Amino acid sequence: MLRAPAARKRSRAVEVGVPRREEVKFEDVRLFLVERKMGRSRRSFLTQLARSKGFAVEDVLSDEVTHVVSEDNQASSLWTWLKQKNLPNVHVLDISWFTDSMREGRPVAMETRHLIQDTLPTWAERSTPTPGTSVSQYACQRRTTTENNNKIFTDALEVLAESYEFNENEGPCLAFRRAASVLKSLPWAVQNLGATQGLPCLGEHTKAIIEEILQHGRSFEVEKMLSDERYQTLKLFTSVFGVGPKTAEKWYRRGLRSFSAALADRSVHLNRMQQSGFLHYGDISRAVSKAEAQSLRNIIDEAVHAITPTAIVAVTGGFRRGKEFGHDVDFIVSSPEAGEEERLLEDVIDGLKKQHIVLFCDYQASTFDITKLPSHSFDAMDHFAKCFLILRLEASQVEGGLHCAEGDRRGWRAVRVDLVSPPMDRYAYALLGWTGSRQFERDLRRFARLKRGMLLDNHALYDKTKKEFLAATTEKDIFAHLGLEYIEPWQRNA
Ligand code: CTP
Ligand code: MN
Ligand code: MN
Repeated sequence: MLRAPAARKRSRAVEVGVPRREEVKFEDVRLFLVERKMGRSRRSFLTQLARSKGFAVEDVLSDEVTHVVSEDNQASSLWTWLKQKNLPNVHVLDISWFTDSMREGRPVAMETRHLIQDTLPTWAERSTPTPGTSVSQYACQRRTTTENNNKIFTDALEVLAESYEFNENEGPCLAFRRAASVLKSLPWAVQNLGATQGLPCLGEHTKAIIEEILQHGRSFEVEKMLSDERYQTLKLFTSVFGVGPKTAEKWYRRGLRSFSAALADRSVHLNRMQQSGFLHYGDISRAVSKAEAQSLRNIIDEAVHAITPTAIVAVTGGFRRGKEFGHDVDFIVSSPEAGEEERLLEDVIDGLKKQHIVLFCDYQASTFDITKLPSHSFDAMDHFAKCFLILRLEASQVEGGLHCAEGDRRGWRAVRVDLVSPPMDRYAYALLGWTGSRQFERDLRRFARLKRGMLLDNHALYDKTKKEFLAATTEKDIFAHLGLEYIEPWQRNA
């Protein structure tokens, strides 16, 4: 048996251990530095450095430790030692993660290059989470950053989910979406099927797809779907703003297979939204960059504050979750004056129109009626005043320029923007609901209903047992009502 890399000197390290005066800034992270290869003096130097930056560093490896950092590139002896310790959920990281984190002054996201991969074949079975610490079946009990270590699998599963969605086959669609969501939350890449043992929401079909990809680098079932004419056509039609699965299906049944065919067909009547969708197709099917979102934030900020200086403007949706690109930019605007919020949105739209930057606007007045709560159809749209916009964004307003096609010399592009305006006392619920992701929201609601006997939607949280609404001014209040650990927006990319 191999000796523990740092075990020999452990007791001494404890005795000599420097007093821990520094305040711990990152409660979720407890480091352990492996002495082997690093050496005692470097280990003690790095320990002090980390503590001075607010990291908790343990002298002894216990189940309190969340991150093991090693300079030992002989991974197999490290893993042999770790297995004896039976800490299957600890992150095993290369020193590069540690130095990156020191430089940033915070624990940086773990990337594949930071991970020390296990080379021992038997580890797979044992590395699965043990019962007490297992991965939750609810996305709202998992932390999912934008970094997806299992994209090769999740992309494939999402194709299948979508194809079932096109066929209105909800069960398998949801099953594949849940499976993809679990895989997105893993801080490690699945390298063999054994590693998925014990993970929730992975059915037989999903496992078969994973195995296919592990063996051949691709899934034949998914490839077949990707080249399926019906799938391709529905995918194409639903990529147009305003065209949902129902309309796409109708056009497909009429034998239409391309945009030109749909536009030429006399029985096809496009509504205003679809007309704008086709008109600006090139622009709005191109992702919106973070810089473009920031520029739009300035534009919306200015338009809102020109009307009510005390109003609140918050970015929500994918950009609030830290995504680099999005299909649109989502904003919540609200006024501290109760009842002002609806008027505010209409005035903001007028302001934008005066700047001649509104290419399309679908305004939906509020139908919010607090006496009609709680709503039992928790998958339905919310009742706040909102608008779906296409705005004209000038290149000169975007730092680093537009995210546009090469050779595009227009100097502007069209961008999709959503605005929603809840009353201030509904703000926290609206913010939570509009931050997403969709899967995260679905599971928050499912968790509330099944685990807590509560009804959650974008307006309120209702406790069915106590028969009362629970007030919240922040998202943290809502998580607390639900008895959930707080999940930061950038950890909601489920
Ligand atoms: N949403 C909602 N009611 C609507 C529209 C959207 O509650 N009428 C919520 C969705 O559930 C989603 C969030 O608002 O969680 C953002 O929606 P969307 O912009 O479609 O998705 P993003 O997550 O922002 O993704 P992307 O970056 O592609 O825009
Ligand atoms: Mn969005
Ligand atoms: Mn949106």
